[in-house]
This record gives sequence, C-alpha cells and structure tokens, in this order.
Amino acid sequence: MPQPFHLSYFLQGSSVHSWGSPFIGTIGQDWMSAAFFKDLAQGLERACFDYLLIEDSIYVGENWQGSRDLFLKTGLCIPRQEPSVVATLLAAATSRLGIVPTLSTFAYHPYLTARITGSLDQISAGRAGWNMVTGSSDLAAQNFGMPAMTEHDQRYVMAEEYVEIVKGLWGSWAPGAQVGGLVAGEDVGQLFDPSKVNTIDFKGEYYSSRGPLNSGPTVQQGPVIAQAGGSKMGIAFASRHADTIVAAPNGADNMRAYREQVRAGMVAAGRDPDSCKVLFLVSPIVEETEEMARWKADQRRVEAEKNMDLRLARLGWSINIDFSEFDLDQPVGELTTNGHQTTLKQFLQRAGKQTLREAVLDNAAKGYGVDLVGTPDSVAAQMEEVMQTAGGDGFLIALGDLSRRSLATITDGLVPALQRRGLVRRKYEFETLRDNLLAF
Ligand SMILES: Cc1cc2nc3c(=O)[nH]c(=O)nc-3n(C[C@H](O)[C@H](O)[C@H](O)COP(=O)(O)O)c2cc1C
Repeated sequence: MPQPFHLSYFLQGSSVHSWGSPFIGTIGQDWMSAAFFKDLAQGLERACFDYLLIEDSIYVGENWQGSRDLFLKTGLCIPRQEPSVVATLLAAATSRLGIVPTLSTFAYHPYLTARITGSLDQISAGRAGWNMVTGSSDLAAQNFGMPAMTEHDQRYVMAEEYVEIVKGLWGSWAPGAQVGGLVAGEDVGQLFDPSKVNTIDFKGEYYSSRGPLNSGPTVQQGPVIAQAGGSKMGIAFASRHADTIVAAPNGADNMRAYREQVRAGMVAAGRDPDSCKVLFLVSPIVEETEEMARWKADQRRVEAEKNMDLRLARLGWSINIDFSEFDLDQPVGELTTNGHQTTLKQFLQRAGKQTLREAVLDNAAKGYGVDLVGTPDSVAAQMEEVMQTAGGDGFLIALGDLSRRSLATITDGLVPALQRRGLVRRKYEFETLRDNLLAF
C-alpha cells in the first residue's frame, strides 16, 4: 500500500472569487453572506480534507500606478472579510474539517489571537488552527497606526515572543481544569479547579501578558499552528513552532529540499519531525480528457497576455512592488522587498534572464509548485509521483478559478481517483484537527 498524504485547501480570502468568469454564479451579489464559502467547506469535508486555510491581508492594494483604482475596479485582493468571523460560520457548517484562519502578528495582540483561536477550538470541538503570519505591507501597518512594516527578520524575532505568549495562554488552563458540569446532573460543588488555572506573567521586550486566558480551556490543548516560512528565519521559526507548514517551492526536488530542511530544523529544536505536516501549494487542472485539461492550462497564458496589468499588479501586491513604471521588454534584473521574500526569490529564479513580460507570462502559465494537468486519474498519478520525490506530507490546493464547478473537479473527480489509489483518506480517522493531521 502507498503512504497516504494529506490534502488541505488555501482560500485566498473570503471575498468575491473569480468575479467575471463564466461559472461563478451569483458571487457578485452574495459574497457578503459567505454562502459560497460554506459550500466550499462542506465540499472539502465530503472529500475528507484535513483543513481549510483562510488567507488574509489587511489593506487595499495601491501598488499599480500608485493607486487603488485597478484593485477596486477588478476586485483584486479586495474585499477581505475578517477571517475569524468567517471561520466561525464555517465551523458551524461542518463537523470534521479543520478551520484555520490567518491572524497576523502585527495586527492582533497575542492575547486576542489566543482568545479568538481558543474560542474557535471550543465551538468547533477541536478543529481550530491559526495561520501565523507576520505581515508584509506598509499599507497594512499604516492601518494599525505604524508608519511602516517592521523589517523582515525583526518580525520573526518579535513573533518568537508572540508565540510564546499565545502558547502560554492556551496552556494557562492545565489539562483537567474543568472538574464540575462534565456529567449531567452530577454535583461536585465546583466548576473549575483553581490550582489548574494560572497566570503566565510574561514580560517581553515587545509584548506582555498576564493571563490566564479568560475564554477557558481549549479542546486540543492549543489549536494547530500553521506557518509558511520560506526565508531562513521563517523556516527556523516554523521548525520550532508549526504543526503544519504550507509552502510553495518550485518543482518536486525543491519540495524535497525544503521539507528536509524543515525536518532537520525540527530535530535540532528537539521535536519529532513527523509531528509537523508540510503541505505543498498546487493548483491542479482536472478535466474529462487530457486535451481539455491541456487546453484549459494553456488558457492561463492566453488570459495573462490579455490582462498583463492585472497579473503585474497581483504579483506586485504580494511582493510590495509597483511594476507599472517598469519596461516590460527589459530583463527583470535585481529586485528586493521587505514583503514576501520567498515569493520574490522564486519569481526571480524562474525568470532567469527573461524579460519582465516573458517572466510574468511563464509564471502565469505554470501554476504553483508543480504543474498538475490531466484527467482525474492521470493527475492522481502525477501527485503520487511528486509525493514520492518530495517525501511527504501532502498538498495545499488553491484553484485560480475557484467556483462550485471547479471545486467539483477536485472534490468529486480528483479525490475519488486518489482514494482508489489509496493515496488519501476515505473517512476521517479522528474528531480533532491535530489528531487527523497526525493520523499518518
Ligand atoms: C501557502 C501560503 C499561504 C500564505 N498565506 C499568507 C496569508 O494569509 N497572509 C500573509 O500575510 N502571508 C501569507 N503567506 C506568506 C508567508 O506568511 C510568508 O511571509 C512567506 O511565505 C515568505 O516567507 P518569509 O516570511 O519567511 O520570507 C503565505 C505563504 C504561503 C506559501
């Protein structure tokens, strides 16, 4: 039997997805209700995904001609609903799927993050996670009264304190803290055992918190921590703290190298490397025939050619660069950022000596990580091969054209093909997110 792998979904913000594309239904009218995202979560649960990760960014993009216009006119990375609110709704609409909202360390005090995710863990009966990100944009920083985003590596130094507080607060309720009310009708005279609920009295250089957490004990002894560090500091941080890592290396060999780096970092930190699941970002194109899938894959380049502004604005948004003044027909050259360094590094690696135009078109045509294109069965075989090279632990799927229709190609086409090959679970093994992640 092959080693099974994990599947999760990367929702790029609760928002107006794929607006303007032919199969998106009424998203333009009903995105605010999050009805579509409930359907998404239920579809993923039917397909036994480990978790749904809700991405976040907390600003309106301006990195195209120094203006918000293109972002607003085309709904590019905007709007973004508050992920913890949407997470609550999705937890109520499901019973096994893990729900992982993004909460940035620069925007939420650690007490608030511990409380939000702790409460989510309670109402979901142990299915909560927290996607720990440090932020990247000056515009986002300015929304919180800061002149600019703290320097990249310093953000991870601060995050170290931050996570210590969050974990400390989750742990401020020792196991067994609730003693009464557990059995209906039983009267033991007290609800909680005061000796098991303690302050943390953390006084750091950047953050402080007293505790205990007033929302009470969590179900999982602390929700699952997801992280996406790609830089040296980021990987070191993830190795110390993450229960699951989402990453986007290019190609299966780089996936393997990345995972090995993380696992070595975990061993150095005294952790069991199998206790963290590394999931690789992919966007499979699954259709009835190879030809249909290939045609659809080729459309990515065609669409990018028609919408260069949009592609450049989207890329620039994630790496904090305004490309509008750049000459499209000159080599990309040297670029630096205080934003997502790994995204930029990978773009530059792929670009090589290409012009900006060619590099952007190529990037659009290839999709994330590895290109997975074909029928359900052939994509399942491709994924098996990638996992064999990468060494584990699974994939984080994100669809460029997310709709109920494209989602069905995954949940009702690809997943059954993976199940037939014994590559993914057919039913959830456990009730909590952490247990399901650790099931294999
Ligand atoms: C799959 C994936 C999801 C991410 N989700 C978010 C997100 O929701 N919000 C955010 O600000 N950054 C997000 N990031 C960026 C990471 O937090 C991180 O900054 C990035 O991977 C670069 O790594 P570095 O910070 O170590 O340089 C994501 C990255 C990846 C690969």
